[in-house]
Amino acid sequence: MRIEGKEYRTIWFENNVVKIINQTKLPHQFIIKDIKTVKDAINAINVMEVRGAPLIGGTAAYGIALAVQENNDTDFIKKSSEELIQSRPTAINLKWAVDRMMNKLSGINSDQILDIALKEAKEICDEDEKFCENIGINGLKIIEEIYNKKKDIVNILTHCNAGWLATINWGTATSPIYHAHKKGIPVHIWVDETRPRNQGANLTSFELNEEGIPNTIIADNTGGTLMQRGDVDMCIVGTDRTLSTGDVCNKIGTYLKALAAYDNNVPFYVALPSSTIDWNIRDFKNIPIEERNSEELSHIEGIDVDGKVQKVMIYPEKSKAMNLAFDVTPAKYVTGLITEKGICEASTDALHKMFK
Ligand code: MRU
Repeated sequence: MRIEGKEYRTIWFENNVVKIINQTKLPHQFIIKDIKTVKDAINAINVMEVRGAPLIGGTAAYGIALAVQENNDTDFIKKSSEELIQSRPTAINLKWAVDRMMNKLSGINSDQILDIALKEAKEICDEDEKFCENIGINGLKIIEEIYNKKKDIVNILTHCNAGWLATINWGTATSPIYHAHKKGIPVHIWVDETRPRNQGANLTSFELNEEGIPNTIIADNTGGTLMQRGDVDMCIVGTDRTLSTGDVCNKIGTYLKALAAYDNNVPFYVALPSSTIDWNIRDFKNIPIEERNSEELSHIEGIDVDGKVQKVMIYPEKSKAMNLAFDVTPAKYVTGLITEKGICEASTDALHKMFK
């Protein structure tokens, strides 16, 4: 998708380094950063220079390729793979991508190992781009149906950033929106600010602006009221891990939006590539929920009147804060899952029929 009219993907390999858009600097600064070593990749995932489940997976895949480039000793690559998996706990795409890379490289000792690793990392990213495009083609039908009935602007609420910046391109939740916009269907997006890191305001609104899509940022507590007023036609969110039961783990606050949507008969869709499905865990209480530094809550960054980036503390110095990064929306609140293969019910049967 575009930034200042120029097409980008979120990650690519060039001159022996991995290039990423440093998302901790958006929206005020656009900086492309070089990731030279597997340690750099682990750090980029951990501090959220890259984030969003599919992009975390793509970065981990390139992280393995960088480990091979540094030192193709099997023990080093294995240790690096374990460190990569631990860099963030919730998004399943991370382990999925590392496992796929390690399977591909297993038993290969030849001079070709680096080429094979780089090819597989690119394949993972290309596949994600294709899957996200298909999510858009499939999800477009839902938006189109609402538009055909309403014959007016379709208002869509989204939480966090499940946009192209969270994937390789297109996004998951935003892909149907981009496809609708390209087809000339008028859409307007309610963008949940998404405290504490403000991925909605800093990233989703930013990328929608760059594509010329009308959007309005709202405080995280506003969505319920908008739904009661009839101002939301549908919700679409992404996910970091969807269980085979159809339960959906996503950015903290998603669950509350799903409850409000359920109470107001607003369709609540979750968009995901199959790499986000966890086929092993069945009880959502077993999903590792990331708890991040409370400083993400107590401090906030922005630009001051002189255009300088500043970080300020907004909480009382003596207050404690708790920063859980994800929650789980039970399947019963999910209208449907929009995947690369089609739209299905959030249930074991439907997911098995679609993917197994
Ligand atoms: O903490 P983040 O910014 O990595 O969380 C991102 C989300 O919660 C997204 O909704 C999810 O990863 C899906 S991305 C297509």
